[in-house]
Amino acid sequence: MKAAASLQKRLVVGLTLGITLLWLVATIVTGRVVQRELDETFDSSLQETAQRLLPLAILEIFNREDAIAPQRIAPLNMQQEHFSYRVRDAGGKILLQSRLAAPEIFNTRTKEGFTTTATHRLYSASALRATIFIDIAEPLEYRREAAKDATIALLQPLLLLIPISLCGIWLLVRLSLRSVLSYRDAIEKRGVGDLSPIETGQLPAEINPLADAVNHLMERLRCALEAERSFAANSAHELRTPLASTLAQIQRLRREAPEGPLQARIAQIEASLRDLSRLSEKLMQLAKAEGGGLLSETPQDLAVLLEFIVQDLRGTAPTAIKLTLPATGSVLSTIDPDAFAILLRNLIENALKHGAPGAAIEVSLSGAALLAVVNAGPAVPAPVLARLTGRFMRGDSQADGSGLGLAIATTIASGVGARLTLASPATGKNDGFEARVQFMLA
Ligand SMILES: Nc1ncnc2c1ncn2[C@@H]1O[C@H](COP(=O)(O)OP(=O)(O)OP(=O)(O)O)[C@@H](O)[C@H]1O
Ligand SMILES: [Mg+2]
Repeated sequence: MKAAASLQKRLVVGLTLGITLLWLVATIVTGRVVQRELDETFDSSLQETAQRLLPLAILEIFNREDAIAPQRIAPLNMQQEHFSYRVRDAGGKILLQSRLAAPEIFNTRTKEGFTTTATHRLYSASALRATIFIDIAEPLEYRREAAKDATIALLQPLLLLIPISLCGIWLLVRLSLRSVLSYRDAIEKRGVGDLSPIETGQLPAEINPLADAVNHLMERLRCALEAERSFAANSAHELRTPLASTLAQIQRLRREAPEGPLQARIAQIEASLRDLSRLSEKLMQLAKAEGGGLLSETPQDLAVLLEFIVQDLRGTAPTAIKLTLPATGSVLSTIDPDAFAILLRNLIENALKHGAPGAAIEVSLSGAALLAVVNAGPAVPAPVLARLTGRFMRGDSQADGSGLGLAIATTIASGVGARLTLASPATGKNDGFEARVQFMLA
């Protein structure tokens, strides 16, 4: 099955990618605007320089002795020249030029104003009625550098923005989903039989209807289960009295009936009625195990309860029951005493019924609330053992039974947060059967 995508991860990645993308688009647009503005500023400074240089150049040309010879003017400072210029007459003869002015920079044109070549931005202006021209050139490289610097400056915050927004969004989403996560924990923490409404707390408006729907569903489920359980319990209860009176009448009939085949048939009916009565008793126990009320408000001492129940069973048991209690005294757990008695009686009854005839059974309780019921007998194969806790599941035993005892014990154990485990052969032995229940200490 495909793993469910995490909403938190999706939001964090999606929003961060979105912010980064928006920032990049904004950087590109801003970069374009900055470049245009820079071009305008560079152009106006180019034009201004040309217009300032031209009168000075004319003065220089007219003042020198050999007005015809071209002259190269050194820059004022020793830094690299940003502009190259030349002054020429209408015939294209160069009268004056800057030190690094190379002829290939300037194309031989007389058009005034701005032009752009592959490498330079040029500006031409004229004076003295278009007899003297100045061409001034600025490498495009400078403009590109400036635009590049501006773009890098705009991109730099992105390096910080990505981790900050990742953390920020992660934190925000986590905080926003906190109530949803605690709602999930509340559902997970539920015991098997707990169908009471789940506290919705401060769930976001989008999730609240979902939580209401879940609660509604649980309520309907609870009602349906309640109806089923009370039907099972009531039917078993209603059967008890007529079964008991029929059994009594059958026993009277058997006493009155003459010896012979009729006696045998009456005995058969009596056995069937006893089975029916046992089954209704087990169904009532199962209904109780599946209903609520398996936990007691106050902790109960399992050692005392165990001793009492074993004492009671010893009266009717065909074999000895060995009881081992913890030396530490009391073992407290919050199980309902009736539920504990039903669970224990089923386990001991099984040991007496299905164990090797005549062999004593061992019942023990440890200080850590581990209850164990061990009996001798042939080992039960693992595949059979694995399904014995199912309802109406029986093993190879010859003894009577409906196959509900272990299902009742398992239901009670899980209802009180305990765990029932079966082992065969019994721990430390070559044969036998062991049922263990680990209760939770109060
Ligand atoms: N102590 C045990 N020793 C050996 N086999 C056992 C023991 N306990 C249970 N079993 C096997 O597990 C099966 C299921 O037990 P379970 O208590 O659920 O039903 P049952 O004892 O047959 O009938 P019921 O308890 O309803 O009268 C039994 O039929 C038996 O084969
Ligand atoms: Mg049983």
